[in-house]
Amino acid sequence: MSEEPLKAPSHKPDTVSLCADPTAASYTDSSDDETSPREKTQVNSKGSSDFCVKNIKQAEFGRREIEIAEQDMSALISLRKRAQGEKPLAGAKVVGCTHITAQTAVLIETLVALGAQCRWTACNIYSTQNEVAAALAEIGVAVFAWKGESEDDFWWCIDRCVNTEGWQANMILDDGGDLTHWVYKKYPSVFKKVQGIVEESVTGVHRLYQLSKAGKLCVPAMNVNDSVTKQKFDNLYCCRESILDGLKRTTDVMFGGKQVVVCGYGEVGKGCCSALKALGAIVCVTEIDPICALQACMDGFKVVKLNEVVRHMDMVITCTGNKNVVTREQLDRMKNGCIVCNMGHSNTEIDVASLRTPELTWERVRSQVDHIIWPDGKRVILLAEGRLLNLSCSTVPSFVLSITATTQALALIELYNAPEGRYRQDVYLLPKKMDEYVASLHLPNFDAHLTELSDEQAKYMGLNKNGPFKPNYYRYQHHSTQSE
Ligand SMILES: NC(=O)c1ccc[n+]([C@@H]2O[C@H](COP(=O)([O-])OP(=O)(O)OC[C@H]3O[C@@H](n4cnc5c(N)ncnc54)[C@H](O)[C@@H]3O)[C@@H](O)[C@H]2O)c1
Repeated sequence: MSEEPLKAPSHKPDTVSLCADPTAASYTDSSDDETSPREKTQVNSKGSSDFCVKNIKQAEFGRREIEIAEQDMSALISLRKRAQGEKPLAGAKVVGCTHITAQTAVLIETLVALGAQCRWTACNIYSTQNEVAAALAEIGVAVFAWKGESEDDFWWCIDRCVNTEGWQANMILDDGGDLTHWVYKKYPSVFKKVQGIVEESVTGVHRLYQLSKAGKLCVPAMNVNDSVTKQKFDNLYCCRESILDGLKRTTDVMFGGKQVVVCGYGEVGKGCCSALKALGAIVCVTEIDPICALQACMDGFKVVKLNEVVRHMDMVITCTGNKNVVTREQLDRMKNGCIVCNMGHSNTEIDVASLRTPELTWERVRSQVDHIIWPDGKRVILLAEGRLLNLSCSTVPSFVLSITATTQALALIELYNAPEGRYRQDVYLLPKKMDEYVASLHLPNFDAHLTELSDEQAKYMGLNKNGPFKPNYYRYQHHSTQSE
């Protein structure tokens, strides 16, 4: 990484908790103040000016946003309570680069409650909730972020977080790898004090593995992206909810009785299928993998080839992680009014480029909704131009983000408190026991009561009564309920 040129900030991050427009449901800044925050001098009510946000006066609105998020992030609140007095992050100086939203604010304030000092910047130039950044600055967190930063602002903000008189980070919490990259490039000596990096995104984790492979990773790093709980919530449960949300917001479609084909029956496909089936849609599945195809059969879905059914479908949804799963030829054969969208990878699954030909007319009917009109008048409804539907057209529930944020907090605590020698200069997954702890912190939300192993049972199973309860290779399979 350190030999690469500085990359543009990752405006299009790659996991669910990263990409949704978190401001969609937020208080909107009605001020038409175009002055760059960098040009303004602002102070919070305690007289500090160690921050740079759009408008500190919005702090009160931000506080309300944070309070709403807290309601569905009670795991973090209970983490604060459980650790009371203990302060497992006392002395930790965390520099963070994530989306700055109400949900991240709940995380940051948890870290502060656990004893950490935090300096924070945004990992995305568009996603900052200005009022939330103001609320954080008001309570004394050094935040450098606003919605609509330029690329130069983006790196300036990162620099202001890292490079400050009399303060040196000893922990890094990153989302996308830009902050880590900046420290490697500009301030490598900081790593002498850093005890660990916690990274959340696919891209950032990939960069860390590359560094490790090249023998250039100089501190332990925790890959929270691949924690079981996080993966399950991002891929399966979040998609199960957001597929419906995204389709409704864009098309007002009724699901009952609609013919739908879902391409790919992995985690995302399973979530989409079960949600659509529950609302009365008639769902069929395409798969390349016989195991997933058989699972689809067992769950009551007909497994077909896209070509066999495409002519009759009301909706075509891709969830494969693959490319050109829906081709121009198949788009040509769809019926009038067919809705086409992607829940899988980036923008590769539907061959959208093939629709940019002179005989087809594109008509923008709503934000993120295009009618593609064939010469005979047939219309296909393309959502989000083939990019991820839920991330472009709906929001991510605070509860899903709570899982990620709790995992990040525990990863920081683990790395910060680990005895010398437990972690080397490598990339680690959060220990299974901690993953289980993340889940257990979320159980009280549902008044769920866990059964405890008896001594005899623990012995019989060869388990410790306090976990971990499963080996690392255990796959937590989703079973679609047949009554849906
Ligand atoms: N929209 C979101 O919020 C969101 C969330 C998480 C992951 N994702 C993305 O969704 C994609 C799928 O994730 P997943 O966890 O379900 O992966 P997965 O590997 O569990 O599932 C993908 C499935 O698609 C099948 N497949 C591959 N090519 C195919 C083809 N040509 N036709 C039919 N089936 C095909 C595979 O056999 C596999 O079973 C990934 O790209 C992932 O990054 C999206």
